[in-house]
Amino acid sequence: MTIPSHFQDWTSSSSARSARGKISPAPTRPFWKRPWIIAIAAAALIVVIVVIAVPLAILLPKSKKHHSTVLLPLYIYPKTDSSWEPLHKAAEAHPSLKFLVVVNPNSGPGTSDGVDAQYHAALLKLSTFSNIQMVGYVRTGYGTRNLSAVLSDVSIYGGWSDKNSSLAMHGIFFDESPHQFTEEIAAYMRTATKAVKASAGLQGPKTVIRNPGVVPNAGYADDNTDISVVFEQSYTEFQTLRKDLATLSEGRAHYSYVLHTAPVMGKDELRDLVSDMSAQAKFVFVTSNANNYYESFGTDWDSFTDVVAA
Ligand SMILES: *[C@@H]1O[C@H](CO)[C@@H](O)[C@H](O)[C@H]1NC(C)=O
Ligand SMILES: *[C@@H]1O[C@H](CO)[C@@H](O)[C@H](O)[C@H]1NC(C)=O
Repeated sequence: MTIPSHFQDWTSSSSARSARGKISPAPTRPFWKRPWIIAIAAAALIVVIVVIAVPLAILLPKSKKHHSTVLLPLYIYPKTDSSWEPLHKAAEAHPSLKFLVVVNPNSGPGTSDGVDAQYHAALLKLSTFSNIQMVGYVRTGYGTRNLSAVLSDVSIYGGWSDKNSSLAMHGIFFDESPHQFTEEIAAYMRTATKAVKASAGLQGPKTVIRNPGVVPNAGYADDNTDISVVFEQSYTEFQTLRKDLATLSEGRAHYSYVLHTAPVMGKDELRDLVSDMSAQAKFVFVTSNANNYYESFGTDWDSFTDVVAA
């Protein structure tokens, strides 16, 4: 092995010096190795950590907070006064967290006679929470359901506010929205969403939510649609799809992720999951239910609502 030339120079000159019998002076320690410098540097480092790094670590949480809204598909018949209690409790416990609740009396609103007394009472109770907004469930059958029936459902929800203004719905959730494009179905969906915005009985922003459950064809872009549920699948599928979902072009305020079959996890892990979802979608839902996902509150409902950033 040959020594690189600059080392050779250093070696030869030092051996030349000792060859002349001179005692080499004790090499002075480099400036930065002197003990007092080390002590000062260490003290300075501690000051930097205490004054800058520690407050920064407190101010900037590990995962960035994305203010989100819970999108709850509430496909639970309020058989007793306590059937919806988990929702009441969560709304009470988190007054600054908003809940967008999809109510679904009968795979839709039922008849124009209105809901039964039990359901009516349960809706009135929900309406007393200022952080809960209700939207009505309407099925479109991926664009195959008779459009007149869809429009009739929208109009029935609109009529609820006539029965009691506290029953007013704030929008419509179009389930089974299409994702594969045909011009005919796109026109069908535009008509349905327009009817929501034109409804006199629906209140407030008349929020239109479409649920294709996957990213729909770009041809379904529609000015009257406020939110698209672009993910409605299991936890396992989320692990596969999350990178593709991250490339969606509209802002997170237009998207919702609904995740079911979540495994049992600790609160920190759940918080990380919800934070990952929230980074891309403002409207989020997680449930541990592995079938009939929305027909009961999952065992993780309380933890989920605890970790969503309001
Ligand atoms: C849809 O329903 C309306 C009203 O019930 C009916 O008149 C119409 O024929 C139906 N359309 C189709 C395509 O089935
Ligand atoms: C409407 O609902 C409120 C409760 O929000 C209730 O006090 C009132 O009596 C109801 N009105 C009618 C006409 O049922």
